[in-house]
Amino acid sequence: MPDAGAGQAATRDFGVYLHVPFCRVRCGYCDFNTYAPGEVDGATPEGYVGAALAEMAQARTAMAGDNRPARTVFFGGGTPTMLDASALARLLDGVRQTWGLAPDAEVTTEANPDSVTAESLAELAAAGFTRVSFGMQSAVPHVLETLDRTHNPQNVALAVGWAREAGLAVSVDLIYGTPGESLDDWKASLAAAIALEPDHVSAYSLVIEPGTRMGLQLRRGMISPTNPDVQAEMYEVADEAFAAAGLSWYEVSNWSRTPTQRCRHNVAYWTGQDWWAVGPGAHSYLGPRIGAAGEPLPARRWWNVKHPLAYAARLAGGQSPEDSGEELDAEAVAFERVMLGVRLADGLPVTEVPPHRRDRVAGLIAQGLVEGKAAIGPHARVLLTRRGRLLADAVIRELT
Ligand SMILES: C[S@@+](CC[C@H](N)C(=O)[O-])C[C@H]1O[C@@H](n2cnc3c(N)ncnc32)[C@H](O)[C@@H]1O
Ligand code: SF4
Repeated sequence: MPDAGAGQAATRDFGVYLHVPFCRVRCGYCDFNTYAPGEVDGATPEGYVGAALAEMAQARTAMAGDNRPARTVFFGGGTPTMLDASALARLLDGVRQTWGLAPDAEVTTEANPDSVTAESLAELAAAGFTRVSFGMQSAVPHVLETLDRTHNPQNVALAVGWAREAGLAVSVDLIYGTPGESLDDWKASLAAAIALEPDHVSAYSLVIEPGTRMGLQLRRGMISPTNPDVQAEMYEVADEAFAAAGLSWYEVSNWSRTPTQRCRHNVAYWTGQDWWAVGPGAHSYLGPRIGAAGEPLPARRWWNVKHPLAYAARLAGGQSPEDSGEELDAEAVAFERVMLGVRLADGLPVTEVPPHRRDRVAGLIAQGLVEGKAAIGPHARVLLTRRGRLLADAVIRELT
């Protein structure tokens, strides 16, 4: 178990991530640490719950003296709703017992639209979940098929309706730039997503990693990648459609109806708060803090063994599931702050840009990538224009 340190980092929030590494079917584009039945002998959702609770017990010991309750909890995957609602509720109880939950805690689960029922969502809400994020991806059948999705557009509408009835806030994930997806297809998906009146939307440009099934199809010439100019246009069309529907961007790939409906858990990642990540392959982060004996401890990130069987075996043997970790010096922390902060609609305070890079801001304004007005005055910030959002990586390279 990492030397998490007993000292409390009072200025940072604390959150908990739980990685549930199971899916009914692995989508050809997906590179996440997740396993479909048959891909991993002997690792079961039931076994996972016991192992995750055992990791929480270890975390309590490692964080003794740090009494911050979780302000956010995020069940991600994989498909967390491959677990029964009662199993998810037991895990959330584990979080309550280990760290406590802040009274206004945000508790999210990701879900595939065809992995929930009205009853399971009501059970999750009763257990303390506040939010559900559905992997909608598209509303166009041939796009869903290319993405290997098991759901259809009707599943999404039903699931969103049930979530609302249960009193849960609703987010939907969309993917654009799928091979064969036209601009009109994408507009149809945007219209369908907006018609669901979600509180929050994430829209990701499809990334085709070499190690995935889709990566193989690409190498074999079975599919063609979407032209980057078309993908850029898809982003612009999305941002316009969301804005017209009352959804404002707050991170390059995320929009919400009101600031209170932003995903607080993800905002915590992007603003350098602390989190413990439970589960196979999950990455935790605790910023600089004071140890039990009053000694300063550097920021630390660590990650668990990736395979669910190795993870469960470690915990069954009373060992830490940590695979490896790294300490981050002040420079590395500052670098990450720029990398993540620039992508936010709140902007990055110019004072957080490394001093030797601050002279680059004027050039970025001249190129139309950064808002000129926001970059002056006592609260000067680097705030991306829409064009800047499309070229966020290039802006980050200039500033780091
Ligand atoms: C863990 S999944 C969400 C929950 C659920 N497993 C599902 O797919 O419905 C997180 C999201 O990441 C996005 N995603 C996954 N792989 C991606 C890729 N290669 N390119 C772009 N977005 C991706 C999808 O929008 C997906 O909904
Ligand atoms: S996109 Fe979601 S459902 Fe598909 S394999 Fe990845 S985690 Fe599983």
